[in-house]
Amino acid sequence: MASIRFDKLGKRYGDTEIIKNLAFDVKDGEFMVFVGPSGCGKSTVLRMIAGLETISSGELWIGDRVVNEVHPKDRDIAMVFQSYALYPHMNVYDNIAFGLKIRKMPDAEIRKRVSDAADLLGLQQFLDRKPKALSGGQRQRVALGRAIVRNPSVFLFDEPLSNLDAELRVQMRAEITKLQRRLNTTTVYVTHDQVEAMTMGQRIAVLSAIKSGSTLDTNLMQCGTPMDLYDRPDNVFVARFIGTPNMNIVPAQLSEDGTSLSVLGGSMPVSEQFRQAAQAMRGRPVLLGIRPEHIGSPHEVDWPLVQPVQGQVEMVELLGHEAIVHFRVGEQMVIGRLHSHGRLPVPGDTVTMNLKCEAIHLFDPETELRLR
Ligand SMILES: Nc1ncnc2c1ncn2[C@@H]1O[C@H](COP(=O)(O)OP(=O)(O)O)[C@@H](O)[C@H]1O
Ligand SMILES: [Mg+2]
Repeated sequence: MASIRFDKLGKRYGDTEIIKNLAFDVKDGEFMVFVGPSGCGKSTVLRMIAGLETISSGELWIGDRVVNEVHPKDRDIAMVFQSYALYPHMNVYDNIAFGLKIRKMPDAEIRKRVSDAADLLGLQQFLDRKPKALSGGQRQRVALGRAIVRNPSVFLFDEPLSNLDAELRVQMRAEITKLQRRLNTTTVYVTHDQVEAMTMGQRIAVLSAIKSGSTLDTNLMQCGTPMDLYDRPDNVFVARFIGTPNMNIVPAQLSEDGTSLSVLGGSMPVSEQFRQAAQAMRGRPVLLGIRPEHIGSPHEVDWPLVQPVQGQVEMVELLGHEAIVHFRVGEQMVIGRLHSHGRLPVPGDTVTMNLKCEAIHLFDPETELRLR
């Protein structure tokens, strides 16, 4: 097992900086998820860890050594890709055993390892089959098996579930998570799907793209446990990226004395927890963040401190256990949540929803950083 340390890691292609100042640690045995929009550099970072991509600046540590110049095969890493990259002419056994054979491991040891992995992954009865006679989920398991038998210090996963249908994705998500907890192998898992990130990661690193002319000085927007990111997003990017539906981010204005906020056509007192931050920004515009589950019907919620918000319903999405209500307040679209078994509004209705005052987040509109 091994920890991984990114020490101001950078990657450029010519003049284009893809990765900038990436600095954080993955702990020994930890399941770390990299999540971010497509093109933000997730695969590039993973390939740098694997040694498939050179490092332009900074140091990459695996365990107690800097591996910038270490050959991929000497990094003791196993990688699982989105395309399972199985050999079509080999059966499952040979696909799983392949990496061990080229490392010239004794046959008996190979048989034992493949058999153990096949038990773990429920593949025993498929060992003689060719990949084309397997379902997508089974192929993905074979790719996992090939990584597991190597018994590496680090697993790297690059969007391994993207090719599976929704149901199988949920199932494999749980299987990979259980497997990792059982093996306790340090894991970096890349995905663009925040639900995968939330459900699988012990910690999550949210990455964003460095755009040319951007003021961002790193791709790393925040790193923390799933609930850290959900409850205390450092910035608007993370606030919007984590959680579905997205957090509402609406313009608001602090009063001259910093004790009240005008927002969504009303005025609400600033609760105790934000007093200090609000004082620092008094008289100024701010961005207010509020999750849809913290905007509900006055008949359904009993929050101690609420702010009524009135608007016109544009759309209602019925999800079974709940209904997501999209309504317009002036120019601003707002998303709230209702129990689906109550009386539901229809488009065109005027609704009054209650906003839970303690659940708001405040952000500086210029830096987009959270006020605290
Ligand atoms: N060989 C390359 N030359 C130039 N740009 C590249 C190269 N490989 C990747 N990129 C760019 O690097 C960025 C990050 O790519 P990638 O790591 O694949 O993102 P992600 O996996 O997050 O979708 C993208 O904008 C991509 O166009
Ligand atoms: Mg990628």
